[in-house]
Amino acid sequence: MEQLIQNMIDYIEKTFRNDCSGHDYFHTLRVYRTAVKLAEQEGADPLTVALAALLHDADDFKLSPETYPDKDNARRLMRENAVAEETAEAVIRIIEQVSFAGTDSVTPDTIEGRCVQDADRLDALGAIGIARAFAYGGSHQRLMYDPDEKPSYGMTKEEYQKHVSSSVNHFYEKLFLLKDMMTTASGKRAAEDRERFMKDYLDEFYREWDGKDIG
Ligand code: ADP
Ligand code: NI
Repeated sequence: MEQLIQNMIDYIEKTFRNDCSGHDYFHTLRVYRTAVKLAEQEGADPLTVALAALLHDADDFKLSPETYPDKDNARRLMRENAVAEETAEAVIRIIEQVSFAGTDSVTPDTIEGRCVQDADRLDALGAIGIARAFAYGGSHQRLMYDPDEKPSYGMTKEEYQKHVSSSVNHFYEKLFLLKDMMTTASGKRAAEDRERFMKDYLDEFYREWDGKDIG
C-alpha cells in the first residue's frame, strides 16, 4: 500500500504544485490526512479512503473539464498502479459523490465516501478555509467583500456553478452550510470549532471595515 500511495502523492504533487485557486497539492494532502484519521475513527476501509482522498480533485470540473465526466485521470492512475477493479470502482463512485453542489449535493452511500467528503469540507473551513476562499476569489478576479451584495441561498448545482460573488459572500452561500452537512462524528465536531473561528473572524472583519476599532 505504501508504494501505491506514494505514487499517487507524486502524481498529485506534479499536477497541482502551482495551482493558486485553492486546489493545490497541499489541499489534497490535508484532505488525505484528515480522511485517513476519520476512517480510523469510523472503521472505514483505509485503502479506499486514501485513494479517493488523493484522487478527489484529479478530474475536478473546474480544473480538468475534459476529464471530469469519465474521471479519466483517476481511472488511468489506478490502472497504472494495479489497483483492484472493485476498489477502483468504489473510489470513482466516491469521487462522483463528494463534491459540494448546492441543493444537489449528495451524501455518499458508503462510510468511506462520507470520510472523504467530510475531510474535503473541513478543508474549506477554519483558518485554512478563510485563506482558501480569498485565494480562490483573487485568482478569479472577485472582490473580497461587497457590502451591497446579499448572499443567495438554496442554489442548485447549476446555479451555484454559474454564480459570481465576493469571497465573503461565499462564506454564507457555501461555507456556513457545511457544518450541518457533515456526516461523521469527529468531522462534525471539528466543523463546529472551525465555523466558530470563521464567525469570530467575520465579526472582526466588519468591525475594521466600519472603522469601529479606531478612536
Ligand atoms: P472542493 O471541491 O475542494 O471542496 P471547491 O472547488 O468548491 O472545493 O472550492 C475550492 C476552494 O475554493 C474552497 O476552499 C472553496 O471554499 C473556495 N471557493 C470556491 N468557490 C468560491 C467562491 N465563489 N468564492 C470564494 N471561494 C470559493
Ligand atoms: Ni477538494
